[in-house]
Amino acid sequence: CGIVGYVGPRPSQDILLAGLARLEYRGYDSAGIAVIDDNGSLGMRKKAGKLQVLRDSLEDAALPDGTTGIGHTRWATHGGPTDANAHPHLADDDRLALIHNGIIENFALLKAELEADGVDFRSETDTEVAAALIGREYRRTGDLQEAFRAVVNRLEGAFTLLAVHKDEPGLVVAARRNSPLVIGLGEGENFLGSDVAAFVDHTRRALAIGQDEIVAITPAAVTVTDFAGNPVTPEPFDVSWDAASAEKGGWPSFMAKEVAEEPDAVANTIRGRVQDGAVVIPELDGSDELFRGIDRIIITACGTASYAGMVGKYALEQWARVPVDVELAHEFRYRDPVIGENTLVVSISQSGETMDTLMAVKYARERGARTLSICNTQGATIPRESDAVVYTHAGPEVAVASTKAFVAQITALLLLGLHAGRVRGTVSAADAAAAVADLEALPAKIAKVLADEQAHVTQLAGWMADTRSVLFLGRHVGYPIALEGALKLKEISYIHAEGFAAGELKHGPIALIEPGQPVFVLLPSPRHSALLHAKVVSNIQEIRARGARVIVIAEEGDAAVLPFADEVIRIPLAGALFEPILAVVPLQIFAMALATAKGLDVDQPRNLAKSVTVE
Ligand code: G6P
Repeated sequence: CGIVGYVGPRPSQDILLAGLARLEYRGYDSAGIAVIDDNGSLGMRKKAGKLQVLRDSLEDAALPDGTTGIGHTRWATHGGPTDANAHPHLADDDRLALIHNGIIENFALLKAELEADGVDFRSETDTEVAAALIGREYRRTGDLQEAFRAVVNRLEGAFTLLAVHKDEPGLVVAARRNSPLVIGLGEGENFLGSDVAAFVDHTRRALAIGQDEIVAITPAAVTVTDFAGNPVTPEPFDVSWDAASAEKGGWPSFMAKEVAEEPDAVANTIRGRVQDGAVVIPELDGSDELFRGIDRIIITACGTASYAGMVGKYALEQWARVPVDVELAHEFRYRDPVIGENTLVVSISQSGETMDTLMAVKYARERGARTLSICNTQGATIPRESDAVVYTHAGPEVAVASTKAFVAQITALLLLGLHAGRVRGTVSAADAAAAVADLEALPAKIAKVLADEQAHVTQLAGWMADTRSVLFLGRHVGYPIALEGALKLKEISYIHAEGFAAGELKHGPIALIEPGQPVFVLLPSPRHSALLHAKVVSNIQEIRARGARVIVIAEEGDAAVLPFADEVIRIPLAGALFEPILAVVPLQIFAMALATAKGLDVDQPRNLAKSVTVE
């Protein structure tokens, strides 16, 4: 869910709604705001549906505005997306409003206790239980911060809570455990947000909040304490994103804009990390010990980031010469993996907030492993919980389906492989220099794919708008790209799609092939491996013989496929490990164009949220 809070001299409604618009990628099942005016009256409005429904409702019947407020955009966990279940939730005779991100695991027990105490609930949410508890404590103490302190320790699970009380205008109190919260520092005004996107329009000075801390903001001051009330000094940071980079500009969708930004995302991720033809990541200066004496690397992530991780495995094994496993974070965490001090756990997360990934990182640390995160969001929780971080510099990614962050993640993993290889002495200077040249050529090559193939792929997608299923085949580093191509299509066009390792085809999936079945095939370059190339060409013939409609992504000049392909999409020549960054681009465009052809909302696909902060 997305959370925003404001105190200051300005009317808060517009600030809250603009903040929510920036956070809507975190969920868009429902949205709501609560504002307190200087006379101490509390107004609240919440609506099921996207933010626009709330906006329309406020336009129909305005809410009295005030200079203190909180806002929420929801991704439903407890209770369906209805008006009643939307946040804020009220308590203390509608004098207190509370919003929440996360899950309170012991809510049933607490709810029973409150019901026995005579409390009536209006929703099915765990949040209303927290609101009622804080309301009860407020009645006892008359102090919102104290009420928070009395309650937070009783809550189990993950939460960011923000509350306002009509008797304390000019104050927003918040608490966090395992769920994100940052403070934005203004002049005579202050902000709270799930991430910096919430307030980047107003300030770029921010404070990161640690685990189990309570925050109180007033127009003039920010106070942070631990759950026991001891003062804490939060860590300041400057937000490098500017407000304009989170705007749609003239683009039809954020996704279209973000795909167009891929050359920059890759270039910015490389910038400052190459010295004299070798990769030196400045943030890892002094962290050589992370890479020395390790016997295993585990890459852990979810969704698209996990596919970047699968490509990263090849790079780390090739250059750092350490065995690498890639595991979905939610699977890794709940078995008994063999890890210890000689294991390096590399997590990948665009948001840095994915709860599954965060829990895997914490678990790895508890087990003594070394941890490094690859992340796109400053001040996020996962990098703060890791020994080291390598940021991707893709800029804010708003569309739910990840595109530019994915290519930046692969870029960061290539850099990491070369950096670790240099530290470990396992990559020769010549190999490193050749890889750097390949890396630095990538932005222009991505731009070429966009220029040459966008129209072609868009047309193809238009023809295929009625397709019910699409398959993707790849081998070696093309395999994760096949998985990613299928995921993109599922996410935004709701078409059944599956990615397979091309070699696995004959062991089962080939049974799916019937006349007319569209299949994308990622063909590896014959320059890297004539054998692999030949094998995938054979796969193409096998499916073609069974009537598949074959769309091949092949490097420029590769004529071997022409006789067997219905369509050929070209990518420029690149080193074997660099090809995935080019090959994924047409698949992203394809998914986007097909969803558009079906009239779907490309940026906010149903049921999904960009950043899933519950396990
Ligand atoms: C969600 C999103 C995916 C994303 C995944 C990981 O499931 O819908 O698009 O790939 O989370 O997100 P992260 O922020 O950790 O990279």
